[in-house]
Amino acid sequence: MARSDLRTLASFDPGGHRVLVRADFNVPLSDGEIRDDRRIMATLPTLRRLLDDGAALVLASHLGRPDGRPDPALSLRPVGQRLQEALDGRVTLAPDSVGHTTEHAAAALAPGEILLLENTRFHPEEERNDKGYAAALAELADYFVNDAFGTLHRAHASTVGVAAHLPSAAGLLVEKELAALDRAALQPARPYVVLIGGAKIDSKLPAMRKLLAGADRILVGGGVANTLLAASGHALADSLVEDDCIDAAEKLIETAGERLVLPVDIVIADGAGEDATSKVVPVGDLENGWRIVDIGPQTVALFENEIAAAATIAWSGPLGRFEIARFSKGTFAIARALADAGGYTIVGGGETASAVRAAEAEAGIDHISTGGGASLAYLCGDPLPGLEVLRKP
Ligand code: 3PG
Repeated sequence: MARSDLRTLASFDPGGHRVLVRADFNVPLSDGEIRDDRRIMATLPTLRRLLDDGAALVLASHLGRPDGRPDPALSLRPVGQRLQEALDGRVTLAPDSVGHTTEHAAAALAPGEILLLENTRFHPEEERNDKGYAAALAELADYFVNDAFGTLHRAHASTVGVAAHLPSAAGLLVEKELAALDRAALQPARPYVVLIGGAKIDSKLPAMRKLLAGADRILVGGGVANTLLAASGHALADSLVEDDCIDAAEKLIETAGERLVLPVDIVIADGAGEDATSKVVPVGDLENGWRIVDIGPQTVALFENEIAAAATIAWSGPLGRFEIARFSKGTFAIARALADAGGYTIVGGGETASAVRAAEAEAGIDHISTGGGASLAYLCGDPLPGLEVLRKP
């Protein structure tokens, strides 16, 4: 989709009006503490711009996957506190995303004030894109701005349904993300190299198939590589292999030919913890009782060469169990290779972004996306439902 087709903040004057802003405040929490607030910080330019223009804001987001039921552990309260700090105490948390109390609180907002709605996924209607729930959200405001880049691939009531009821526009974060990703999604400078890691082979296989249309190389590591290695005839011992994806993996290997680059050596361990015994072996040498925990040094060198030669590089998904220091070498080396690369570099996904930060490679990356699934879908050329509804008529 051409970016020029998008309605942006310039399409309306929010002064004296209430604006419903859909943000992606789906941040990692532990014991009620926010572990990484980048998604919140990334939305501030849009919020500040609307406030400066004289709007009152109603903010909506999901957090986690509460399955349509209220779950106090997934309340947006910690997000509200972080927003209070960032926006000088103008934020109050509504008890729910819809209902009388919330309607009254929204109606009472003065310009410059902010009402944060409680987790939209506490209602099953959100993920069903229920018309009534979308209409109830729309009742809270005069305009709708979607700045939830990380959730644009979801067709939910707060990302798609609500746009049918209000004049709608993309926020500044969405614009910034699209501008950065377009450098890979549209006519990338070549060679264009994509690195795919992480788990979830069932969603990554179709993504790799689509990426083959534009990428010169796809380098694969992490859990995703296991099924591809198994499909190319290697015994994977205790490593997780998705047997029902083997046929699709075989087809991908055949279609991709030399453009698909799999690990040639791996780090294996006899347990999952920090104290497990580990060793480096060629991919063919996995014995029972051992599992893959990282890419090996020869694979790191192979991937580093591809990255150094590339003009555009996009990376989604860690290449091993990097959260355990001993098994982080491969992922961290690749993070540093991206940071040192001369090409244009994009990293997508919360875990991959955390790995880049832990490797202290953040400063060298051109764009770290706030969306994992959304950025991969966009790079694959998939339509993003949340974006489609923001097109100019
Ligand atoms: C994300 O973290 O990718 C987005 O917030 C979307 O979350 P979801 O995968 O639970 O829909």
